Amino acid sequence: MSRDSSTREGDTEDNVELKCEEKPKKRKRKRKQPLNVGELKMLQYHQKHSPFITRAKDEIVLTDAIKEHLSKLQGTLNLAGQQSINSTEPFDELTEGCNEEGCCKLKDCHILNASNNFLTSIFDRKIINPRNKAIIMNYDNKDYVIPKKSSFVVSEFRNWVFQCDSLGEKYDLIVMDPPWENKSAKRKKSYNYLPEYDLKKLPIDKILHNGGLVVVWVTNKQKYLEFVRDVLFPFWGVELLGHWHWVKIGVDGDYITNIYSTQRKPYEPVLIGRKVPKLTSCEKVPENRIICSVPLNQHSRKPPLNQILEPFLPRNPRCLEMFARSLTPEWDSWGNETIKFQNLSCYVKKEVA
Ligand SMILES: C[S@@+](CC[C@H](N)C(=O)[O-])C[C@H]1O[C@@H](n2cnc3c(N)ncnc32)[C@H](O)[C@@H]1O
Repeated sequence: MSRDSSTREGDTEDNVELKCEEKPKKRKRKRKQPLNVGELKMLQYHQKHSPFITRAKDEIVLTDAIKEHLSKLQGTLNLAGQQSINSTEPFDELTEGCNEEGCCKLKDCHILNASNNFLTSIFDRKIINPRNKAIIMNYDNKDYVIPKKSSFVVSEFRNWVFQCDSLGEKYDLIVMDPPWENKSAKRKKSYNYLPEYDLKKLPIDKILHNGGLVVVWVTNKQKYLEFVRDVLFPFWGVELLGHWHWVKIGVDGDYITNIYSTQRKPYEPVLIGRKVPKLTSCEKVPENRIICSVPLNQHSRKPPLNQILEPFLPRNPRCLEMFARSLTPEWDSWGNETIKFQNLSCYVKKEVA
C-alpha cells in the first residue's frame, strides 16, 4: 500500500477511495434510521416475552386481594407516580473511594451491641448485628437501622474482591444488582457503573456452595442479558434455570410506562442460576415467573426477593446481596452504599400494641 500526503497512518486504500467519492457534496434527504442490531434484538425480546408478561400481570391485578392491597396504597408517599420524599441526598457522602495501597484487606470485624453503637469508621470492615432484633447504629451523626442478625461491608469493588477471602464465608444464595452502564443512571448521576467484564473478578466459585443460587438483575439491554447468560454463568459454573421479570405497576394496577414504548419498558429481567452440581432437595426454579410490584420512587430500587426465593433454598440459608443499598434481616450485604436506605429517616414509626 502506498502513502501520499493526503493519507494518514491507518487509512486504508478503501477509505481513501471513499473520501474521493465523497467530494461533490450533494444534500441527501434524511432517511428514517432503521433499527440497529441492539434495538432489533430488544424488539424481538419484547415480542417473545410480552405476551406472557401481559397475561400474568392482568391475572395478578384482577385478583381481589391485590385490588384491595393496591387501593390501600393509594395516597402512600414515595411510590411510583406520586410525590416522593427525597431520601437520597443525606447519604451522598457514603461512597468513599480509596486509592491507598494495602487498603484492600478488611480492617476488622465490628460487633454491634445494644448499648453503644456509635461508629467513627464503617469502610472496609464487617459490621455485624448478632442480636435477634434490629438495633440502631450511629455513624457520622446519623442513625441507621441494622436488621436482626444481619451484617454488612461498605467497600469498593476492587477491595471487596480481596476481602472475600478474609471473610471466609460460603453462601446458599447470592443476589446481585450490578451497576450496569446505562443512560438513566448516568443522567441522574445516581451511582458509578462498572465495566461488565469486571464482574468476572467476583470469586463466585469460592463463596457459593455447590447447588447454591445466583440471582442477577439485568437491564433490558440485550448485550447485558447475553453477557450474563453466555459469559458470566458458564464462567461461574452456574446453570441458567429461570428468566423472570419484575413488572412495575402503579397503584391503579396499570404499567408505570407504556409496554410498547421503545425507550423505557415497565419490566426488568432477573436471571436465576444454580451452581453445579445441583442440590435435589429444593423446589425446582420455574423458568418463567413475573413479580409485580409498585416501585419506590428511588432510582434503580428493586423489590426484595428473600421471601420469593425461600422455596428454592435449603433451610436456614446463608444469603448475600452484592451491590446492596439496603440490608435484609439475617443476610450479609456488600456494596459501596450498603446502608444508604437504612437511614432512620427512611422508616416510619409504628406503635406496637
Ligand atoms: C443498581 S445499584 C443497586 C440497587 C439496589 N439493588 C437497590 O435496590 O437499591 C448498584 C450499586 O452498585 C454500587 N457500585 C457502583 N460501583 C461500585 C463499585 N466500584 N464498588 C462497589 N459498589 C459499586 C452503586 O453505588 C450502587 O449502590
